[in-house]
Amino acid sequence: MKPAFFIKPREYLKTPERKRILNEALFSALAQKYGIINRILSLNRDQAWKRRLIHELPIHASPVCVDLACGTGDLTLLLAKKYPQGRIIGLDLTEPMLAIARARCPFAHVEFVRGDMGNTQLKSESVDVLTGGYALRNSADLPEVVHEIHHLLKPGAIASFLDFSKPSNRVLQEIEYFLLRTWGGFWGFMMHRNPDLYTYIADSLQQHPDRRQLHDLFKAADFDFMRTHLYYGGILEAFSVRKKAS
Ligand SMILES: C[S@@+](CC[C@H](N)C(=O)[O-])C[C@H]1O[C@@H](n2cnc3c(N)ncnc32)[C@H](O)[C@@H]1O
Repeated sequence: MKPAFFIKPREYLKTPERKRILNEALFSALAQKYGIINRILSLNRDQAWKRRLIHELPIHASPVCVDLACGTGDLTLLLAKKYPQGRIIGLDLTEPMLAIARARCPFAHVEFVRGDMGNTQLKSESVDVLTGGYALRNSADLPEVVHEIHHLLKPGAIASFLDFSKPSNRVLQEIEYFLLRTWGGFWGFMMHRNPDLYTYIADSLQQHPDRRQLHDLFKAADFDFMRTHLYYGGILEAFSVRKKAS
């Protein structure tokens, strides 16, 4: 595996397979510092956004929950607290992220598994609640992941996501990429001596659909759109969708 200061994300974003390889190398390299860098990059708002996302999920006695691209387990652990009788699965591609998640987890009803969010190998129509924190933008093949989410959820079940987001307006997009590259580049250099590590956020967002296109992708895949919350003027978004009941 390459040391953190060698990874050049932009070179890897061209094909799904290379993006998957990049993601595993990138998140392995920054796993130990992931928690602190998340707090710094979000100006310490990340935990509050995640708590709100989980707070707004429906009451369930014993749901099956899947946290896609669970990383070090922030949303997985909040799901476990909200649903103490549930079965909670955190799934991620990167073993060093999962190792930290497992070490943080005091709950017996949680399991962390290594897997690809585009092909989870979990049972069809078995999931009541699905979450993804900074997950969809990192997917190697977004339509494949949306299809997988539809495949996993029971009819009427909910999926909620938090991620960087962008408006449809091209000028505003360019301003946002500039801000994210500057902010990410500064902290990439400070934490890892590699400004490119966190400019990955802007690079991956550039390839990602804008907010409206992303919502439309879910609507076209047979989901009802439920709600959205924008943070920092829309630089981040939390949104929820529901799989149509029939
Ligand atoms: C920015 S982190 C998000 C972690 C966590 N969900 C959070 O909210 O803090 C992105 C995570 O996506 C994972 N990831 C990237 N590509 C993936 C894939 N194809 N399947 C599953 N996980 C993936 C990475 O390993 C990483 O842990």
